[in-house]
Amino acid sequence: MSTPVKKVPIHLQSSQNRLLIKNGKIVNEDNIIEDDVFVEDGIIKEIGRNLIIPGGTRVIDARGKYVFPGGIDPHTHFEFEFMGTTSVDDFYQGTKAAIAGGTTMIIDFAFPKQGESILDAYYSYREKADSKVCCDYGLHVALTSWSDQVKQDMSILCSHHGVNSFKTFMAYTFMLNDSELYSVFDHCKNIGAIPQVHAENGPEGHEMSRPEEVEAEAVNRACTIAHQVDSPLYVVHVMSKSAGLAIKQARERDVRMIGETLVAGIACDGSHYRNPCFSHLAAHILSPPIRPDNTTPQYLMNFLAQNVLQVTGSDNCTFNKSQKEMGMKDFSKIPNGVNGVEDRMSVIWEKGVHSGIIDPMRFVAITSTNAAKIFNIFPRKGCIAVGSDADIVIWNPNKTRVISAKTHHQAVDYNIFEGMECHGVPEYVIVSGRVCVDEEQLRAVQGHGRFVETPVYPAYVYDPEKLAHVRAAKNGTLNEVELSNKLAKIELE
Ligand code: URP
Ligand code: ZN
Ligand code: ZN
Ligand code: ZN
Repeated sequence: MSTPVKKVPIHLQSSQNRLLIKNGKIVNEDNIIEDDVFVEDGIIKEIGRNLIIPGGTRVIDARGKYVFPGGIDPHTHFEFEFMGTTSVDDFYQGTKAAIAGGTTMIIDFAFPKQGESILDAYYSYREKADSKVCCDYGLHVALTSWSDQVKQDMSILCSHHGVNSFKTFMAYTFMLNDSELYSVFDHCKNIGAIPQVHAENGPEGHEMSRPEEVEAEAVNRACTIAHQVDSPLYVVHVMSKSAGLAIKQARERDVRMIGETLVAGIACDGSHYRNPCFSHLAAHILSPPIRPDNTTPQYLMNFLAQNVLQVTGSDNCTFNKSQKEMGMKDFSKIPNGVNGVEDRMSVIWEKGVHSGIIDPMRFVAITSTNAAKIFNIFPRKGCIAVGSDADIVIWNPNKTRVISAKTHHQAVDYNIFEGMECHGVPEYVIVSGRVCVDEEQLRAVQGHGRFVETPVYPAYVYDPEKLAHVRAAKNGTLNEVELSNKLAKIELE
């Protein structure tokens, strides 16, 4: 009998499949310890001091540096066909840029084309992405219509295809109405999925004049609907003070309401829309828009510090200047979207940690751990722990870099953070055990990433104890003080 030849995946054939990261400050969401990390075959195998390590192990000295879990960007749109054109960062260039900035997993949105089923949209995204991604990725699925077929396909995507989240829209031509949102949220609850909402009241594309109250109203309405059907809710791209306050209020009733904000909202304000240069102004167009009130970025960062908001994404959806010019004569035709997948970690570090609003642990929570928990891939992702995927960033807080389209790794020809100086540089980025940024040199490998299934019923929102308390509160069987004490306790766990 012949012995079958065991096929070794290409990414494990390198002689550098063993790695020892020494003397770094390991940051998880709940502690910082100084220890060594031993990685083998893409997995963190040991953490400790004086580890006994096999010969041929590469050693990286991380003294004076932070070692934290690779970033997870839960919101990207690579090679997205949108508003009559296609975003220029594809799954190769987009994930490569992600890695350059310290992000080791992205979650994109499979969008059905006109008339396409969500199942086919999923297959088509897998086909686009699988061979191109340099780092692991997952998929949310966008619901642009509602029917029994959509409902059935949602169940199939959850049970067979590793999808656990569905994005709905209260804006754009493919928005759902309230009663459809009701049905989607209810179905999500029944199958253990996470309903997501683009909360903005408006049937059309971008409008310069759209005030933030419109966003807050939609957030409020979406949270009310979720509350009615007793489902969790993930509000994507919270861009304004009033929308943040609406989330805060909703969380007082139910901590399963989750808010994501964008790095664009943390770093930019609406003054960019008054720039006389069309390319400048158009590059900043996204929905909901960045806000004219220039204290908004600071507010959003404070919301992240206070756990009113839990997650930061980029909503990376990049269009070149020439594509943005489609809207030269009509603002509503400017393809919506900004860059951010590469710079998210740096910008959040700069505005959050360097400016003293959050500590490195909260940084890890809002750039990685919370997303891993919400999308149910923790502790495989989102922490530095034995058994976790070796997605690791070695971050030098004492170095600085200046963001520029001239040096970024994205395909797009513009960068909305142009000229921003950021303290903190990812010196090494390890993706599934492979050193893909090595002494600041990018060595991403096309096809190295894998599709990561996101299982249903994440404990973050479906934990029975949390649910019981939320329900008791709703039924009035807990008084308010009892309730807030209980919720505070659960939140800390
Ligand atoms: O303007 C944006 N945000 N573009 C991407 C599509 C979306 O709504 O997330
Ligand atoms: Zn959106
Ligand atoms: Zn988006
Ligand atoms: Zn600018």
